[in-house]
Amino acid sequence: MEIKAMYFSPTKTTEKAILGIGENLSNKLEYPLTKINITSSNSRDKNYSFNKDDILLLGLPVYAGRIPEILEKFLANLKGDKTLAIVVAVYGNRDFDDALLEMKNILEDNEFHVISAAAFIGEHSFSNKIATDRPDVNDMKFAKMISDKIADKILLLKAGNDIKNFELRGNFPYKERSELPPLLQKTTDDCIFCMECVENCPTDSIDDEDPAKINQDKCIICCSCIKICPANAKYISNEKILGLKAMLEENFMEPREPELFI
Ligand SMILES: Cc1cc2nc3c(=O)[nH]c(=O)nc-3n(C[C@H](O)[C@H](O)[C@H](O)COP(=O)(O)O)c2cc1C
Repeated sequence: MEIKAMYFSPTKTTEKAILGIGENLSNKLEYPLTKINITSSNSRDKNYSFNKDDILLLGLPVYAGRIPEILEKFLANLKGDKTLAIVVAVYGNRDFDDALLEMKNILEDNEFHVISAAAFIGEHSFSNKIATDRPDVNDMKFAKMISDKIADKILLLKAGNDIKNFELRGNFPYKERSELPPLLQKTTDDCIFCMECVENCPTDSIDDEDPAKINQDKCIICCSCIKICPANAKYISNEKILGLKAMLEENFMEPREPELFI
């Protein structure tokens, strides 16, 4: 048996939540943990298959109430074989809307058996004022608590017990995706050419000789470059996104709590 923690995490909040759950599950069940970080574009060039003895722990950030659109094709190609799976969505304190249901449906179409789901809150990609530094200590305690419950369910299933399906929040048809506006982010003269942004961009949209040059057709405004830049040289310039950021800072500051569906 093996736990495989697969995650996409441009600003690393999803990674933190998923590894918290994965490490606790691994300790409790005494199964090894393998990390599969699918944030870089080359990590998504491969096809991944899972067998009956694997447990897939899939973690994704919520983008506009859905899973990130660039992952749709990749996820549709994951192959299970009656593989048990847990889906985790990390959202920036507004809502996860239909993301967990979408993850569950994709996996179940691919021969996985989704046995549980969880939603965590992560610092918002667009703002360091919303859910600052989350997942925090309390979120990680929650990760441990739910890992124990999920491990118990896995042990019951493996022992041949029949277990009822769990209820999940989310709607189908899913929320409509909206088009991203052009010219999303810019670079100031403070850039020190350390190339951290280039190396960490999940869509290879930053020029590897001149980080101020962005391929706006590829940029998904994940904000990895903005949060990682040691010189604070990257910023969102688009009026629509800045308006959205202001609206979120006005209306979604009240801390939300992580949730388990089991
Ligand atoms: C394009 C985009 C859309 C987002 N949409 C939502 C949303 O609908 N609801 C929400 O609460 N947070 C939303 N967020 C915030 C992220 O879900 C949140 O910050 C998450 O922790 C980022 O995960 P990461 O650190 O693994 O990249 C959005 C972020 C981005 C970049």
